[in-house]
Amino acid sequence: MVGTATHQSFSSLFKTTYSLAIRLWHWITFLTITASIILVLFASTVFTIKGNLSMVQEQIQQKGGTVTPDQARAVAHEYSDKLWMLHKYVGYGLCFLLLSRMVLEVAYSKQQRLAGKIKKALAFQSLNQEQKSDQAHYLLVKWGYVIFYSLFLIMALTGLGLAYEDVPFFKSNHKLIANVHSFVQYLIYFYILSHIVGVIKADVTNNKGIVSSMINGG
Ligand code: HEM
Ligand code: HEM
Repeated sequence: MVGTATHQSFSSLFKTTYSLAIRLWHWITFLTITASIILVLFASTVFTIKGNLSMVQEQIQQKGGTVTPDQARAVAHEYSDKLWMLHKYVGYGLCFLLLSRMVLEVAYSKQQRLAGKIKKALAFQSLNQEQKSDQAHYLLVKWGYVIFYSLFLIMALTGLGLAYEDVPFFKSNHKLIANVHSFVQYLIYFYILSHIVGVIKADVTNNKGIVSSMINGG
């Protein structure tokens, strides 16, 4: 019985297996978030309006034309705008993915739910130091997922607030919404980095096969 201490190791009692649905969800989300971040990266570096103003002017002058800074700005703006538009569309995909993760949580049995796993681990009474530290680590990882989902929700809500900026409530709070959206991105990057380092470290040390279990369910 898992709720009480046993001689078995914590990790064998709490070995996580993931359903096909969440494995698919995980890798589609990974690809979609990566696409979104790449678009942000390009839009904020190579394709900024400021960075391309003089390039547009120079190119037109070299071909014998003339262009005012205002006209050059309109051209440079189009490139940046295209990337932000794409980011917005990918963002709708992310909102859908977050919603499907919520549906999965509700549809899952108690044991499969993230909330169920946390409750079960909290109720577990460790017998020795090893079980205690495994339990603390397991809970840290699972609370990490809760934090990630909360950050994801903030990005989705503020992203929708930016996408529908004409709605009066979003319009009057535009600055705040944009600030939250652009600040929380860094927390997301930090989480993703720690997550990837964490699972790779686990896979090469005491949790061999954890990454392939997220692929083949094993
Ligand atoms: C991990 C996810 C995301 C990251 C890292 C991210 C990052 C960013 C960043 C850095 C900006 C520029 C903010 C500024 O300079 O004011 C931005 C703008 C924006 N984001 Fe996101 N975002 C994410 C998810 C989303 C989602 C889910 C949506 C939902 C539709 C969304 C929609 C938008 C919109 C509409 C803008 C304004 C674009 C414009 O200026 O025209 N984003 N995002
Ligand atoms: C954008 C990048 C990524 C995001 C946002 C992300 C997000 C997540 C989330 C939310 C979970 C928990 C699922 C749940 O139980 O509800 C998870 C689990 C997992 N992810 Fe990722 N992931 C990313 C990239 C990766 C990569 C690149 C790898 C492999 C190298 C990976 C390997 C895993 C593994 C092995 C688990 C299960 C760990 C466990 O049993 O606790 N993830 N990921």
